[in-house]
Amino acid sequence: MSDTTSMGVEQGDQKNSILRLLKEAIEALPIGITVSTEHGKILYVNLAEAINHGYTVEELIGKDFRIFAPEEHWNSLSFEEIHLKGIWKRESIHIRKNGELFPVQMISIAVKDSEGIPAGIVVACEDITYRKKAEEEFMKHQESLYQREKMKVYGQLTAGVAHEVRNPLNAILAITEALFLDLGDKPDFQSYLTHIHIQVDRLSRLMEDLLELGKPLIQSRLKKESLFDILNSAIDLWNQLPPSLSHKVHIDVLSAQNPLYVIADNQKLQQVFLNLLENASQHSPEGSEIRMKVLQYGSTTLISVADEGTGITSENLSRVFEPFYTVRKKGTGLGLSIVKHIVEAHGGHVRIRNNDPMPGCTIEVSLPIIEETTI
Ligand SMILES: Nc1ncnc2c1ncn2[C@@H]1O[C@H](COP(=O)(O)OP(=O)(O)OP(=O)(O)O)[C@@H](O)[C@H]1O
Ligand SMILES: [Mg+2]
Repeated sequence: MSDTTSMGVEQGDQKNSILRLLKEAIEALPIGITVSTEHGKILYVNLAEAINHGYTVEELIGKDFRIFAPEEHWNSLSFEEIHLKGIWKRESIHIRKNGELFPVQMISIAVKDSEGIPAGIVVACEDITYRKKAEEEFMKHQESLYQREKMKVYGQLTAGVAHEVRNPLNAILAITEALFLDLGDKPDFQSYLTHIHIQVDRLSRLMEDLLELGKPLIQSRLKKESLFDILNSAIDLWNQLPPSLSHKVHIDVLSAQNPLYVIADNQKLQQVFLNLLENASQHSPEGSEIRMKVLQYGSTTLISVADEGTGITSENLSRVFEPFYTVRKKGTGLGLSIVKHIVEAHGGHVRIRNNDPMPGCTIEVSLPIIEETTI
């Protein structure tokens, strides 16, 4: 063999071994690789691509590469258009053999041979389900931080306004009472005075509620309290209100630990359950039942208040905790905002959902509990 021939053989061997190495690397890659003709017929897939999409390699060879995407995500770029882009990078949605959808990050390259004739399209495809989930979690976290900040500013602002308005209101209320004493028996004035009294009273309550939203818990009022005492006190208070008359409250205790203790501002937690009972009775028919259930999961208690009322439309479910959101003519829309504020200040959470099956809805309050032996 001449020198040039043996050099040619050597170079050929080197090329082959590089190609083999490349093939092994592509086979072992955790990222899916597909090579198809310019018309999209699959010529090669690595194992990761087949497994990601729930197929065997054999099942995919010869198929149209659109097998990987649901119809609405088929892209319409031609070979030439992809070639012009150089590298076409995008996120999309793919579909597994069992119909499950998942997000992917894709890179496509349209390759031509040395004569400029289309050789094929190479696509690298990565399942980005975990990345997307992490991104969603991050966004949710950011959103809740933003909401908390917003509520803090809102609380400070409203507390300031409410504080300023409360004193003149009390003065108007006192003057109205004095006028009542002087003129209350004169029919000409009575209806005006009653009207002023009702409206001022309403404004005073609104100011109290607004002040409540801006207030943090007072540490010295936090004590070890029996949850059942708090619930019973809230029911007693509620029983003194007119709408309570036509409803019955049942408490089901499904808790391993009885009594249950929480670290709480007793009055504030009473207000939470009073607000929930008020809402339940305002939105459910006379004679219907309101059920309170107390459950325990480890160091958390879950108290639910379920009614048999109207329930809440799905578009409003996410809005009911917003301050001033109300569909009641006489409501201020602060009841549930106060509930959320107080429960979260106690380290708990509130959720609302419609009953399944309907009618009615259920509010769930979770709170951390303490061991009986803890002081
Ligand atoms: N148990 C319930 N059943 C149906 N809808 C409810 C229930 N609880 C709350 N809602 C809806 O959520 C809205 C907000 O409730 P929220 O208690 O915050 O305000 P409100 O009851 O309207 O006024 P208030 O400030 O007097 O409590 C209500 O207007 C109502 O549309
Ligand atoms: Mg209410």
